[in-house]
Amino acid sequence: MRILLLGSGGREHALAWKMAQSPRCEKLFIAPGNGGTSQVGQNVPLSITDFPAIEAFCIKESIGLVFVGPEEPLVKGVVDHFRNTPSLKDILIIGPAAEAAQLEGSKSFAKAFMQKYGIPTAGYREFDVNSYEEGVRYLQQHPLPVVLKADGLAAGKGVLICQHPIEAAAEFELMIQRNKFGDAGRKVVVEEFLEGIEMSMFVLTDGKDYVILPEAKDYKRIGEGDKGLNTGGMGAVSPVPFADDLFMEKIEERIVKPTVRGLHEEGMDYKGFVFIGIIKVGEEPYVIEYNCRMGDPETEVVIPRLKNDLVDLLEAAAQSKLAGVKIECDDRYACTVMAVSGGYPGEYEKGFEVEGLDLETGSDSLIFHAGTISAYGAVMTNGGRVLCVTSFGESVAEAADKSREVLDQIYFENMYFRKDIGYEFA
Ligand code: AMP
Ligand code: GLY
Repeated sequence: MRILLLGSGGREHALAWKMAQSPRCEKLFIAPGNGGTSQVGQNVPLSITDFPAIEAFCIKESIGLVFVGPEEPLVKGVVDHFRNTPSLKDILIIGPAAEAAQLEGSKSFAKAFMQKYGIPTAGYREFDVNSYEEGVRYLQQHPLPVVLKADGLAAGKGVLICQHPIEAAAEFELMIQRNKFGDAGRKVVVEEFLEGIEMSMFVLTDGKDYVILPEAKDYKRIGEGDKGLNTGGMGAVSPVPFADDLFMEKIEERIVKPTVRGLHEEGMDYKGFVFIGIIKVGEEPYVIEYNCRMGDPETEVVIPRLKNDLVDLLEAAAQSKLAGVKIECDDRYACTVMAVSGGYPGEYEKGFEVEGLDLETGSDSLIFHAGTISAYGAVMTNGGRVLCVTSFGESVAEAADKSREVLDQIYFENMYFRKDIGYEFA
């Protein structure tokens, strides 16, 4: 099988690394890829939202399977483009069609879906410019904190947790009347605040059946002790120590099964990953959000733990043959720690050489590149999240220690990483 993987993050390096191990993988292309993906496949300079260019490439290279890493091409309809183009329709493609990708692309769509299928989530109302005054009155009597969510994709910034009624009213006005998040925020979901601990679930579905991959917990804040600004993710651990068998069973029965049944009953074209953000309130699971892709950096711990052949698994999903497939995984803990450019998630500089990448990591550690580029025989920084190190251990603490030890031998100017990933499980 000749494979094209779209994306350029740590998630894509981990996926490419795993695909390349499959005897089924004849040739692997990554578009646009990064300085790490070029070690396991061939990078190609294609834009992930330029569907005609992707189409031409797939035909020229006789691609058999396309994997879409990030959400943007999915929400913009890359799967629909493949289904509707006669020369592409036999190519297997992993990801939902645009309608189903609204599970991530529209908070309002996701909330209505959960309500219809009885999936536990925070109570909510939605407002737009036509119901603005009603929304203002609703907010005045809402208990605090209150959660405001821009309906559309807002680069991870569209969720505001407001502690004060004046703050809530001001943000509500900025979103609806002043386009704070552009069109994405013209509709706002106002949601009850849930207090609890979060984790990420990963389901691969063929639209009817599903398999559950290892769960993970990511660390979104830039600072140690979960302080400071939100980032794309500074590290992750898997398995999640508080997700015991009983809790996982509740998630499967109350959330995973009705989600997949809902997709099927709505007749949605969904052959790909559903990433479910879960919050544990007391002992009960609630859905915080859906994403129509894998998480980053969660993929960097989930995929190394997966023992199944990834290409076989993806082919089964694309061909509606997931029934009966069993997931096998490494029982050890995996912990990934992300090294970022100084200043991230604010302004930062790029173009610094990454040194120490040729170190011998030992068989328990893996280096995955994120924002890097290969140039003139060197690897240079090319983004905010630069690379991560995933290690295995018999405990979260042991895995985290090994990742830190490897990172201590890697250097680029203004490099920063959190030293406390997994701290609450140590
Ligand atoms: P989302 O983009 O929906 O994942 O939201 C971003 C983050 O906001 C989540 O990871 C949670 O930490 C937080 N969040 C979202 N909705 C709620 C809620 N209803 N209650 C508490 N925290 C929330
Ligand atoms: N790590 C969170 C995400 O991928 O959205």
